[in-house]
Amino acid sequence: MKKFKIAVIPGDGIGNEVMAEGIKILDTFAAIKGDISFEYQYFPWGCEYYLKTGNMMDANGLKVLKEFDAILLGAVGDPSVPDHVSLHGLLLKIRQGFNQYINLRPIKLLPGAPCPLKDKGPKDIDFVVIRENVEGEYAGVGGIRFPDMPEEIAIQTGVFTRKNTEKVMDYAFKLAQKRNKFNKVTNVTKSNALNYSMVFWDKIFKEIAEGYQDIKTETNHVDAVSMYFLQRPETYDVLVASNLFGDIITDLGAALQGGLGFAASGNLNLEKEYPSMFEPVHGSAPDIKDKGIANPIAMIWTAKMMLDFLLEDPDTEAIIEAITGVLLEGKTLTPDLKGNAKTHEVGDAVCQKLKMLL
Ligand code: NAI
Ligand code: MG
Repeated sequence: MKKFKIAVIPGDGIGNEVMAEGIKILDTFAAIKGDISFEYQYFPWGCEYYLKTGNMMDANGLKVLKEFDAILLGAVGDPSVPDHVSLHGLLLKIRQGFNQYINLRPIKLLPGAPCPLKDKGPKDIDFVVIRENVEGEYAGVGGIRFPDMPEEIAIQTGVFTRKNTEKVMDYAFKLAQKRNKFNKVTNVTKSNALNYSMVFWDKIFKEIAEGYQDIKTETNHVDAVSMYFLQRPETYDVLVASNLFGDIITDLGAALQGGLGFAASGNLNLEKEYPSMFEPVHGSAPDIKDKGIANPIAMIWTAKMMLDFLLEDPDTEAIIEAITGVLLEGKTLTPDLKGNAKTHEVGDAVCQKLKMLL
């Protein structure tokens, strides 16, 4: 019996509501397999905690979390707390403190999911974005001089290290090999305008590519990528992007795969010196909280990504098949998908399908 210790941070708003469905799928999968189990510890961190204690998480939070095999997070944020406080006080602390330098974002349109592009379908939208997750444009290096004076100056700079850039790119190539789709990695750049950071980025990309003669490469400027995502998403396999560019193009990608209800992500520390963290891309959705109508598919997909990181088991693909089954049936869908089902009913339906598939 393989036992995994999972730190669960449901967070705020619909984070709590979808988390229950993520746990449900993990337990269903474990029960079917019989040889794995999960031990969960819940942490009440988030905006409510902040309002009570003045902190988004405990001061020794990272020390406590370090002992876990993985972290599963719902969503953080509430109108009562400024977003930069909630983001920096919890999410970014974990991502950066645990050197989760890879942000893994599958962009896959499932059959039955709504796609905003006319003439494109599930066979056209199936790629992965690897976003650098701890430095680059979001390194937090800069300052304000002469605040509120006529001479006021804001400076924010990017930080790109050779070591980290190499690791991120290397992972992109390894993933392209593993996916074995087009055996292609697209380098997302802007080296025509960013003549230091992105020229460096391109150089490292070329160096890493040397080691993967079986993988084709292409380099696209980020503005062109935004256009090609809409015009010819079917040409992509694996893309590698800096923190800022990856942030932007993955939201565009989420739209291609049917919206925030489908977007899942992993924040990975590949060496496993720290736990990795898995979270749906959406936020806490204060506009629909406490109604029990949040779409749990992104969270369920996120739990599947966590499984893939913890074990090598091709059976996890059945979770995606189970989601697809529920989508195609069309009977148990939340209001964002024009249905009238509750969050827990969608979770139950996916688990039911999973039991039939495995
Ligand atoms: P949001 O993702 O919470 O909501 C955007 C829109 O999408 C809303 O209309 C919401 O109802 C809908 N939506 C999102 N997820 C859904 C789901 N699973 N099912 C059905 N509908 C869904 O983004 P917003 O409104 O910009 O931010 C709300 C709060 O969440 C803010 O405090 C923000 O800082 C935080 N946030 C947190 C994130 C995280 O924890 N990773 C990511 C994005 C925002
Ligand atoms: Mg974003």
